[in-house]
Amino acid sequence: MPSTSRLRRSVLYVPATNEKALAKLPSLDCDVAVVDLEDSVAPERKDEARERMRGFFNRGEGGGKMTVIRINALSGEWGAEDLLAARACRPDAILLPKVDTPRDVLDANDALDEMDAASSLELWAMVETPKAMLNLGAIAELGRDPSARLACFVAGTNDLVKETGVLATADRRYLMPWLMQMVLAARAGGLDVLDGVSNDFRDAEAFARECGEARAMGFDGKTLIHPAQIGQANAVFSPSEAEIAGAEEIADAFAKPENAGRGAISVNGRMVERLHLEQASRVLARAAATKERGR
Ligand code: COA
Ligand code: MG
Repeated sequence: MPSTSRLRRSVLYVPATNEKALAKLPSLDCDVAVVDLEDSVAPERKDEARERMRGFFNRGEGGGKMTVIRINALSGEWGAEDLLAARACRPDAILLPKVDTPRDVLDANDALDEMDAASSLELWAMVETPKAMLNLGAIAELGRDPSARLACFVAGTNDLVKETGVLATADRRYLMPWLMQMVLAARAGGLDVLDGVSNDFRDAEAFARECGEARAMGFDGKTLIHPAQIGQANAVFSPSEAEIAGAEEIADAFAKPENAGRGAISVNGRMVERLHLEQASRVLARAAATKERGR
């Protein structure tokens, strides 16, 4: 079940080396900012990236949004130092790239426990390798164990294209089966799940289409690379007026005394069951959270 209280509609990557982009963050409307130490940072600038990240978090200018740090893989040369630096910055979550197996998540979790990291610190996992796709169910299962910290899957579509050789078509037809598997596995594990990025940030029309598809596929939000993509993602992943009205109708119908104790009722000529009430409650919680954020 997607989390209702915390919105993850628009999740913007910011390279830790891009001081101008970091400075812009407080004024941006995204629900989540992901400060990136991994693939958007050149190998020779990894130390500098950590320094700039520390500066950003020390200034405390997140602007009320959720903050995430994407570290390099723990198995590689920069991962351990990244994790140490990231934990010291006290973000809301740490995003692990190139996760292949449940062990990769558990190793990061063990390291955080050894550093006495807060139990509220979440781990998010990029799903971007063929191995991750094959181990998806087992990785997602960690979501059922709160001590494992795993809270969210993030589709890494650029890496999946690179690793598998599928053609990256505009309609993403060859990626769809894997994206749908990610949503399914995430729900099995009680995780949130975010769609991959759209590289062409000047093509607003294509981006709107991708957001609509992602919403229809069941994603909670979209990862973004450019501020121009934020407004569209927020709009698409917020409940529409019609959805809110429909949810209110269902909630009101079940609240009537004559419907107390009834499992299935009729609302406007449609059968509505208690499971629809659960769905409606989720829509209303998301609507309330959206309103609270002011957009
Ligand atoms: N986060 C915050 N601000 C950003 C931003 C981002 N991801 N991308 C661009 N901006 C800012 C720019 O700094 C610029 O700010 P200004 O108005 O103060 O001058 C403004 O938005 C307009 O940027 P623009 O000139 O259109 O783009 P650019 O050429 O500066 O940057 C990219 C284009 C693709 C290099 C940049 O968007 C980027 O680095 N995106 C993230 C890449 C990434 O993290 N990839 C890893 C995950 S896939
Ligand atoms: Mg990647």
